[in-house]
Amino acid sequence: MATSVRFHDDLQPAGPSLRDAALAGLAATPKAIAPKFFYDRRGSELFERICQQPEYYLTRTEEAILAAAANDLAGRVGQGGELVELGSGASRKVRLLLDALRPARYLAIDLSTDFLLSSTQRLAADYPWLEVSAACLDYSQGLRLPGEFTLTRPLLFFPGSSIGNFAPEQALAFLQHLHALLPAGGALLVGVDLPKDKAVLEAAYNDAAQVTKAFNLNLLERLRETLACDIDPSRFEHRAFFDEAESCIEMHLVSREPQEVTLEGRTFRFEAGESLLTERSYKYSVEGFTALGRRAGFVPAAVWTDPQRLFSVHLLRREAPGA
Ligand code: AVI
Repeated sequence: MATSVRFHDDLQPAGPSLRDAALAGLAATPKAIAPKFFYDRRGSELFERICQQPEYYLTRTEEAILAAAANDLAGRVGQGGELVELGSGASRKVRLLLDALRPARYLAIDLSTDFLLSSTQRLAADYPWLEVSAACLDYSQGLRLPGEFTLTRPLLFFPGSSIGNFAPEQALAFLQHLHALLPAGGALLVGVDLPKDKAVLEAAYNDAAQVTKAFNLNLLERLRETLACDIDPSRFEHRAFFDEAESCIEMHLVSREPQEVTLEGRTFRFEAGESLLTERSYKYSVEGFTALGRRAGFVPAAVWTDPQRLFSVHLLRREAPGA
């Protein structure tokens, strides 16, 4: 396969390593490790499989919204600009926009290097007219763009409701960061999961094929395989539930029994039933997210949802100061 992808992995000083995050997270009360550590190659592959599970309505619903909205979107933001995708994964969703948007350049940003490379190489082969760049970076630590990627008329594409993996105040700070990065006239297209029936939400994070369970437990496999760690994933169970007061799904790994785990020469104790928090996934009403976007300085330009109102896609604009 021809490789015409410009690849960057030097844009960011290293953030906290898995080692540091795990040592701090196991010492904390309650124990917690940030969800970004799910995404090694196997974690990224498992996430792609989650997206295909019948219970995980988010991906197929967002894709249907994007496919239906692509021409409307192109009419609003125009063609020939720069398209930057945050958390590009398999770069599947962007394909729904490319023909309508006809961007001059596409930059895919993701954490998992080899997954990012193989996805963007496939995309470059399928869209020979598109200039494709890839940047391996942790956008949650601050978005840095490669030198060749000057933003003139950019659209930042942040799909998948990944904004929901930030706590609301962090989400606000991140939106403010994106707003500051955009030139006047630039825009953000962001996918946001909507609050809904608890049973539907909980099924999405407890799929019958147990792919989400494998995804969650893979974090422990990663600790065992890449660090000096004797953690045994079979001694933990997957738990995911909806916290209605917070409007978020919480995902945990719960110790089945009292046990001690050693990590990099330190010992950590788990009581029976004690959990390690691995993810929060916040759900926002259309009004709630529109208000958050406004607080970050954006002007809401459009919102698309599906007929069942499971999921939303917001277009937020950066207007010229004083406009
Ligand atoms: C990436 N993120 C938006 C997913 C979510 O739904 O919070 C990650 C995920 N965790 C379990 N299933 C999917």
